[in-house]
Amino acid sequence: MAHSHSYLIVEPCPLIKGEISVPGDKSISHRAVMLASLARGKSKIRHFLPSADCLCTLRAFEAMGVRVEKEGKTTLIIEGKGGQLDPPFEAIDCGNSGTMMRLMAGILSAQPFYSKLIGDRSLSRRPMNRIIEPLRLMGARIRAEGKENTPPLFIEPSTLKGIDYRLPIPSAQVKSCILFAGLFAPGITRIIEPVPSRDHTERLFEQFGVRTLREENGSIVLHGGMKLEATEVDVPGDFSSAAFWIGAAAALPNSELRVRSVGLNPTRTGLLKILLRMGAHIEESVESHTRGEPIGSLWIRGNKLKGTVIQGDEIVGVIDELPILAVIGALAEGITEIRNAQELRVKESDRIKAIVTNLRAFGVEVEELVDGMRIQGRESVQPARVESFGDHRIAMAFSILALKANKASRIEDVDCIATSYPGFEQDLYALTQSFSKEWMDEPKKIKGFTQALTKAERAEEVKKKEILYPVITIDGPTASGKSTVAQKVAEALGFTYFNTGALYRSVTWRILSLGYDIHDEEKVVEACRKLKLRCIVQKTDRFSRAKILIDEREPDEKTDLRSAEVNAAVSIIASYPRVREWLLPFQRELAHEAPLVVEGRDIGSVVFPESPYKFFLDAQLEEREKRRERQGERDNVEQRDKLDQSRSSAPLCCPVDAVKLDTTKLTIDKVVEKILDILWKKGLPVAGLKTAAKT
Ligand code: DC
Repeated sequence: MAHSHSYLIVEPCPLIKGEISVPGDKSISHRAVMLASLARGKSKIRHFLPSADCLCTLRAFEAMGVRVEKEGKTTLIIEGKGGQLDPPFEAIDCGNSGTMMRLMAGILSAQPFYSKLIGDRSLSRRPMNRIIEPLRLMGARIRAEGKENTPPLFIEPSTLKGIDYRLPIPSAQVKSCILFAGLFAPGITRIIEPVPSRDHTERLFEQFGVRTLREENGSIVLHGGMKLEATEVDVPGDFSSAAFWIGAAAALPNSELRVRSVGLNPTRTGLLKILLRMGAHIEESVESHTRGEPIGSLWIRGNKLKGTVIQGDEIVGVIDELPILAVIGALAEGITEIRNAQELRVKESDRIKAIVTNLRAFGVEVEELVDGMRIQGRESVQPARVESFGDHRIAMAFSILALKANKASRIEDVDCIATSYPGFEQDLYALTQSFSKEWMDEPKKIKGFTQALTKAERAEEVKKKEILYPVITIDGPTASGKSTVAQKVAEALGFTYFNTGALYRSVTWRILSLGYDIHDEEKVVEACRKLKLRCIVQKTDRFSRAKILIDEREPDEKTDLRSAEVNAAVSIIASYPRVREWLLPFQRELAHEAPLVVEGRDIGSVVFPESPYKFFLDAQLEEREKRRERQGERDNVEQRDKLDQSRSSAPLCCPVDAVKLDTTKLTIDKVVEKILDILWKKGLPVAGLKTAAKT
């Protein structure tokens, strides 16, 4: 198995401030895809959560003949099969998702084909008896192939019938599994819940035209055999994702946060009640009830909270929020106790163990109980290096606690965050950045642009903005590995990648295509000043980069910028001092737009000499020549080195304060890891830092 080396560095931050809307609700996204796939006609699902978990559900139905069209990343158009799925060719992979496996089991029990449900290591340890038992009572032929009634699940065709069933434990997943099977079971299915659990399934059934009734004693009744009709679903923001910000804002004094477009279904918002009891300032406003689920805004102001006891019937409504509640308890005054939460032991991890272990690592006094824990609150915590235990909610909860340490902390193995909250790191960064960044305390004036040959108004505009984002500089000779490394570092940090070689290449390409003699310095300088050059920050799915437009065109990287002609001419044009001077403000200005990783030859020495984050990559000549050759490029590395090192203006050199790395024998990922480690040690005030490095 591949070992993941992803981690998150969290810098201290006394409070959070801002506005946020979180990705779509995980539970609703799963269910909406399931119902749309089973309905007749085309359904539209907006604000679907494209997390690893929910994509598994989507893939499963595609494998069973359901046609899915995507509009962007979060809108799906699903053409349902009217209840009759096609047999899948292979086992259905439920990834990390307990919800998916349990609900699919209900659906597949009613299908006239054999099927098998499998999951990842964590899911393969989770109990399935709780659904096998009621499904068998309904007539399903289902068995667990794992040792202790754990996955895989094997399902044979059978005829179902409605049953009356009393849930032994309150569980929305078990309830939903039975309801899904009940859709296909003649007669009445009746479920008696000990405590009402989340009711997304019931609400969504109704949107798809199938009503469940709630009897006076609270039991839920469904008539089998009703047909689902296609509809439109607006998935609200996931309250359980918002919970991390709500908790952080409530517990960190002086925080101010607005959470927009979040699901406020009362079976999900138990956290708010508990926070209010602990003394939090929270206002809630439901703004719409469109299509079944209440959606609205929350305003949270932070202050010192008081400890509380969370137990009994309250647990089911906050089961996903217990990790963040434990963290909030650790920052509250006095003792916070969680009881009757033994269910936590069979979640994505043994969450009781995971929470207790990590709280202790942060220096929090905590007693582990069979069904919960007792936490002694404190003012601040010590920095720590903790595991996620492969559990997304553990990773996110402890990222929040880390804000209260006096130095950076490190959360290991954070890939799992993507199972429910892709983009968490960026949001953490956005909500904390203005307070944790040292450069905000000491705004740095831009130096150097005044002598530049740029339009006066633009210089004025630049002057007005006086905050400079952090810039990581990576210089080095041709083929030293700069580009790949810089891109990966940028991706890991959420910074913008800026290849200044491409800037010199774009200019060279344009000058050549306009037919100038590149050796005529005067003419080249004059021609450059007439060019319309723009560098803009372009955000793509995975990372953001500086896009270079020259006379409103973006030259093609391969055919234009790396042609043999440009390769041969670029170092000559780059040696002209006035061309370099002309290009200076374009490079510096970008640091007003976004945090940057900039690679080139003189970035640390001339363009951003004030940056504290400088690197210089080098490798032996033969190795670099080999690399260029492998890239299939015609280029004279040695000659280019000479030109770049010997020119009078801004020659290639290693700045005195740069960290020098010889990459001859290192893999790219190793170099990236080293750089990220050094940045962390240098105290780069970045809240969300994640390596893309994998081994
Ligand atoms: O990084 P690269 O090989 O794409 O760069 C092409 C040329 O551009 C390089 O040989 C010298 C010049 N250059 C420069 O002089 N200063 C920079 N900051 C970046 C590139």
